[in-house]
Amino acid sequence: MTRITAAITAVGGYVPDTVLTNQDLEKLVDTSDEWITARTGIKERHILREPGKATSDMAIRAILPMLEKNNIDPLDIEVIILASVTPDYIFPASANIIGDKIGAKNAWGFDLAAACSGFLYALETGSRLIESGRYKKILVCGFDKMSTIIDYTDRNTCIIFGDGGGCVMLEPNTEGYGMIDSILHMDGSGKEFLFQKSGGSFSPPTIESVTNREHYVYQEGKTVFKFAVTNMADVSFKMMERNNLTSDDVHWLLAHQANLRIIDATADRMGLDKEKVLVNIEKYGNTTAGTLPLLMYDFENRFKKGDNLIFSTFGGGFTWGSIYIKWAYDPK
Ligand code: UT7
Repeated sequence: MTRITAAITAVGGYVPDTVLTNQDLEKLVDTSDEWITARTGIKERHILREPGKATSDMAIRAILPMLEKNNIDPLDIEVIILASVTPDYIFPASANIIGDKIGAKNAWGFDLAAACSGFLYALETGSRLIESGRYKKILVCGFDKMSTIIDYTDRNTCIIFGDGGGCVMLEPNTEGYGMIDSILHMDGSGKEFLFQKSGGSFSPPTIESVTNREHYVYQEGKTVFKFAVTNMADVSFKMMERNNLTSDDVHWLLAHQANLRIIDATADRMGLDKEKVLVNIEKYGNTTAGTLPLLMYDFENRFKKGDNLIFSTFGGGFTWGSIYIKWAYDPK
């Protein structure tokens, strides 16, 4: 029987218009453009400032143009998976809201929370549904409106995060293109180093939790950095090793855009030349579940059919992993 793989057949992306530069942040917290650039590689990030607009609104601004460009009828979409830690509501799922707004009346779907690894977890889930033979069109999204959970008086976090994300269409492929391999991990013992202290069932919202700023992202940056550097580099190297890929065989590294130093360390471990390492962190900062689809969206025109793409990520949870994709189409 012919093996079915899940191939990415279309890519979309969106960031809001409002730009928050390092110079803007200098006015909010004790920081400097020099420090942020040297320590993270970030120059600016985009913020969704429009009243009444949420994560699902960013998603549809990426999805609708992608559907139109690729002549995809929303009624043909069977499943919608949204990776996000900033959904519109705790429930219903924002995948639901997105489905309604784009007219995907025949789809079911769900949200998935794995912080910065969310998009790769979602890609894995969608791919396995395609491989089952039951589904032909799955919309996989990664979007975060991080500005709603960022404390703009905390220089440890506000310099890093931005809003935005991207989406892909997954379809069956019988020529060997698409998802080849995945290695995904989690380690819940790392939870207190990067998390939102209140708002869930452990610590529901109270006047005190708001006063104590517990609904914002809390991060012990140094610890997260240490785990991120080691685990992202290790898992990416392991992905190469177990697929017998040399550094020459890898065409592109798409690494989670959290810190340029973490991306560089991963690329070094893989022995990759700089031109194979895709970077847009300077424009968007860390959009959490959004970074990897946004990278694909920005660099889609460079990918050729048959190119070997290695995706790598590390995020809160802790969660981390790598995915190996053989690209399925030439620039459109
Ligand atoms: O996406 C999910 C995963 N998240 C990540 O991967 C983020 C991982 N962590 C990081 O990227 C880095 O740890 C940060 C960018 C958050 C911080 O960089 P760092 O090189 O680890 O800085 P640090 O926390 O060790 O601080 C070094 C110094 C300290 O001053 P002293 O003690 O040496 O005098 C900090 O107080 O820099 C100071 N500092 C700042 N100075 C200016 C910390 N934040 C800032 C700031 N501006 N924003």
